[in-house]
Amino acid sequence: MDSTPCLRPKTLVAFSILILSVALVPAFAQSGSLDKHPWMNPSLSADERATLVVKQMTIDEKVSLLHGTGMKDLSPISPLAVHSNGGAGYVVGIPRLEIPAIQMSDAAYGVRSSGENGRYSTALPSNLGAAASWDLDAGYEYGALIGRELRAQGYNMSLGGGVNLAREPRNGRTFEYMGEDPILAGRMIGSVIRGTQAQHVIGDIKHYAMNDQESGRNAVNVHIEKRSMRESDLLAFEIGIHEGNPAAVMCSYNRVNGDYACENNYLLTDVLKKEWNFKGFILSDWQGTHSTIKASAAGLDHEEPGEIFFGDAMKEAVQSGRVPINEVDEHVHRILRSMFACGVIDDPPQKSVVDVVGGFDVSRNIAEHSIVLLRNENSQLPLDASKLHSIAVIGAHADVGMISGGGSAQVDPPGGNAIMPPGKGGTKWQDHIWFPTSPLKTIRAKAPSAKVQFDQGTDSASASALAKSADVAIVFSYQWESEGMDLDSLSLPEHQDHLIAAVAAANPHTIVVLETGSSVTMPWAGQVSGILEAWYAGSQGAEAVANVIFGDVNPSAKLPITFPRSEVDLPHRSIVKPPRESTTSGEPDAWKKIAAGLPAFQTTYDEGLKVGYKWYDAEKKEVLFPFGYGLSYSTYSYSGLRVTPGGTPGGNVRLNFAVTNTSNRAGVEIAEVYAALPAAAAEPPKRLVGWSRVKLNPAGSSQSLPLKESVSLK
Ligand code: BGC
Repeated sequence: MDSTPCLRPKTLVAFSILILSVALVPAFAQSGSLDKHPWMNPSLSADERATLVVKQMTIDEKVSLLHGTGMKDLSPISPLAVHSNGGAGYVVGIPRLEIPAIQMSDAAYGVRSSGENGRYSTALPSNLGAAASWDLDAGYEYGALIGRELRAQGYNMSLGGGVNLAREPRNGRTFEYMGEDPILAGRMIGSVIRGTQAQHVIGDIKHYAMNDQESGRNAVNVHIEKRSMRESDLLAFEIGIHEGNPAAVMCSYNRVNGDYACENNYLLTDVLKKEWNFKGFILSDWQGTHSTIKASAAGLDHEEPGEIFFGDAMKEAVQSGRVPINEVDEHVHRILRSMFACGVIDDPPQKSVVDVVGGFDVSRNIAEHSIVLLRNENSQLPLDASKLHSIAVIGAHADVGMISGGGSAQVDPPGGNAIMPPGKGGTKWQDHIWFPTSPLKTIRAKAPSAKVQFDQGTDSASASALAKSADVAIVFSYQWESEGMDLDSLSLPEHQDHLIAAVAAANPHTIVVLETGSSVTMPWAGQVSGILEAWYAGSQGAEAVANVIFGDVNPSAKLPITFPRSEVDLPHRSIVKPPRESTTSGEPDAWKKIAAGLPAFQTTYDEGLKVGYKWYDAEKKEVLFPFGYGLSYSTYSYSGLRVTPGGTPGGNVRLNFAVTNTSNRAGVEIAEVYAALPAAAAEPPKRLVGWSRVKLNPAGSSQSLPLKESVSLK
């Protein structure tokens, strides 16, 4: 793996901009004297600079970088925490050496905690939604927006970067991750991280590794054999780290094959630091540290959120010779190196006003790239507003907002939760939060001469009566999910299946818009004329949805996760739940028990590397909508497939083919390439190996374009 610093250019143009900003740096850097602080010389490498600082540090200064300053309910809080910027993590700086504090914020689909801190953040579509765009440039813009808003709010480190594979679609954090394929997920998260770090913010990838269920996450021991792990979940991290070069990796809560992930020598040292040559630092998830000597030796560099194991206990362990000082020096070196490499020392954040309108543009644009058209019978969509007299809009609080994902990913909506009275909007842990982006309003704006009426959808008789009276019915439906819980099932909650079936029976022109965090089952799929998957669509979701419904945007997204026909087709009937002794909910001083280690319970991933479509393919199970599926208002044809074998055994195979737009509408097609390996390899039937997004003019006016990126198969 490349060991260059955390900044990696998007394009040559972006690169020259970066060089320019580095060239401007000396004015700041020389504020301290270079004679006294030679590490402030930006022409030295990040490694050289870190080495110079480490030489000057006392043991207390070193240890101060190895931990955070505490968090309510998770660890004691240090008095120094008063200088925190209000994010999830705060590491004190060392002013005497001109080393700034690290101010960390969660930032999965936008910057967290803006409400309680009196700030504003844009909500992007969920990470899973962004993955549905298969658009690496969109991923970069996603990360760049987060980086800009982190800096504007005074943070210099992101805790985004979730890339756990959707091995278990009922995992409550599926919306925070990039789907079920390691190549798509890894490349997309790599782009997000590049975008964030290009803003001079330390980027992160998480939760390493196998944190594929939330139930009992602090106790569960995931059992999986190594080859399967390497070819599935770990491959997503490997690609994400290779492409995004994050400065930090967050190890996860769970145990993997017996050891906690944050003290797992195989994961942290053998694979991540040695094999992948990772140069950044490893921080624990919040209370994912369980020891001093074992964790440090296994490769953990930094404890969050407090200092139960890497504070005084670490100092004492060093002084008594139980942790070698060079091990501590390496942890410190990695942290400092990351700070220099990401530019947070040379170019610290300045608080400023967030660009709200610019954020809306980015968010809407990515949402438009992420909405998947799953069904379009008789070309029901796009709707032609000039031909419609009446539209029924039904369900999911579509009069006021669209749902968002909960937990530490939660972005606070301006004005509070859209379903609450003004000023009363709560954004508490695991509240269902609706963003103030109203589909009813945007649909009305698109169809000004139609009568557009709304029904809450709580009474299916009333909803179907309205649907019956309208030319077309649009049912909004949602599935909420959050960190800290898993879904009991993939069915839409709150009788929404019944509602949709009733509306579809009343009106043959029924369109369903799904706002979901994961896949859902759809017993009514054959009864409706249109289905759009809008995921958690972000600050401008309603605009994006209306643009797709009325044809201003031609959908191009493809599913990053399989939609099964039924839960019985999943690899596991249900998620293994923790026994009572492996949980702590509501107990006073629960953190003490977690720190000491809750009794382990087992989850065995015996489907191994057959994650997502690889499972359904291998088990010959039909699905509702496959991975990689998505319709467009255009049609495309493929021709001229040419395969050029690699010259030598194991050499690259080249594919060329042409994609042609056969419709009269411009569109974007995502051409996907899958490969099968010889039976002797004992691999699932096929795997994604590459893709290309091509923009195609309407037929007649157009070119047929060869695949933009040629795909190399090893
Ligand atoms: C989550 C992490 C998050 C951290 C800090 C943990 O509970 O698992 O994803 O970054 O809290 O908020």
